[in-house]
Amino acid sequence: MSHVQGRHTGGRKGPAKEPSGSVSMMSGPALHTDIAHLSPLLGTWRGKGAGEYPTIDSFTYVEEVTFGHVGKPFLAYSQKTRHAETELPLHAEAGYLRPAGPDRLELVLAQPSGIVEIDEGTVEANDGALEISLDSATVAVSSTAKSVTSVRRIIRVDGDTLTYRVEMGAVGQPHQHHLAATLTRVDQT
Ligand code: HEM
Repeated sequence: MSHVQGRHTGGRKGPAKEPSGSVSMMSGPALHTDIAHLSPLLGTWRGKGAGEYPTIDSFTYVEEVTFGHVGKPFLAYSQKTRHAETELPLHAEAGYLRPAGPDRLELVLAQPSGIVEIDEGTVEANDGALEISLDSATVAVSSTAKSVTSVRRIIRVDGDTLTYRVEMGAVGQPHQHHLAATLTRVDQT
């Protein structure tokens, strides 16, 4: 009685094939060797953070982060947050983490607040933990965005725990702390 036509109604056994031209795949590609050292980041992470800045009220937030790959030498990164009390959406961002040799990284990132960041820095393994330190090489803001002149991102992954902090120079204030959060890996893929 189903009126739905197509591959789900044909009674075919086994996995459905993707239509030709589709970029999705049934099983994921192998991790590119140039980003093998970044594998501790892979997956979906959830947790809580706190933010502050001299010009705003302090706040707490919940966050979901994903790091994924498509077999090419970069990680796709996305993040979204909600206010911990009101549950209203706060900041979000998406971009790509690119290796620049074995111990250096580039992050290209866009934010709906009209801010675009290119950060560069280092990645190293210390006592089994991955430590990433990135500083903005370029921050560009759209005509209507708030001014941001510098960003620093420190990320540490130890097993299934990811902690980070973000500092920034913005809206005429000197470079200083904006955010800190602790996330737990909820999905490895
Ligand atoms: C977890 C990520 C983040 C969260 C939850 C967050 C949250 C907030 C909140 C709640 C405010 C105050 C209200 C508002 O202006 O919307 C704010 C202000 C601001 N944030 Fe963030 N933020 C995040 C990341 C960032 C990043 C990465 C940047 C810059 C690259 C940034 C730049 C700013 C600026 C410029 C302001 C305005 C300060 C002012 O108007 O005085 N934020 N942020």
